[in-house]
Amino acid sequence: MLSHDTRTINADRSDIEALDEIWLFGYGSLIYKVDFPYAESATAHITGWQRRFWQGSHDHRGTPEQPGRVLTLIEVPNARCFGIAYRVTLDVFDHLDHREKNGYLRSIQTLYFGNGEFKQGVVYIGKPDNPAFLGEAPIEAIAQQISKSVGPSGPNTEYVHRLADALRQQGEEDEHVFEIDRLLREMR
Ligand code: SIN
Repeated sequence: MLSHDTRTINADRSDIEALDEIWLFGYGSLIYKVDFPYAESATAHITGWQRRFWQGSHDHRGTPEQPGRVLTLIEVPNARCFGIAYRVTLDVFDHLDHREKNGYLRSIQTLYFGNGEFKQGVVYIGKPDNPAFLGEAPIEAIAQQISKSVGPSGPNTEYVHRLADALRQQGEEDEHVFEIDRLLREMR
């Protein structure tokens, strides 16, 4: 079993160093909280993956006693996941590996850009074998847990609302995110 803290595993940069240009793909908080330098950004999508609030957050949007729920990607054939791609340099990964340390491992995926180009890019994914993975639950139970969780980065609800707002601004639909966003607004 993986430790919660994935920094040691992610410290091997050989996968990223092999890329001509380094593109980071964000599908969750990396869409709306951009606390790292980048040279350019673009809308993009990846295929075969779907956003789900199935990853526990013990360090940002919850605590070890009361973990929140944040996004990870689940493999679903033919699924499409929209996100924002950032062209970055190798030195941002110390910060990113720290930020994404609660079970996320870097994965190299093909990014399909809005202009029809595609390139390899880096995506942080919390796979089902990571100890912070909470897995599937009824949508109402997910919303309940999120409504009660708060961590050092703020209320868990903020993660959902900011992401939902960012997706709407881009004209993107995501039934899972939008339904949880709606349930949380009803609970206020
Ligand atoms: C991402 O946004 O791409 C990774 C998950 C997160 O930090 O919310």
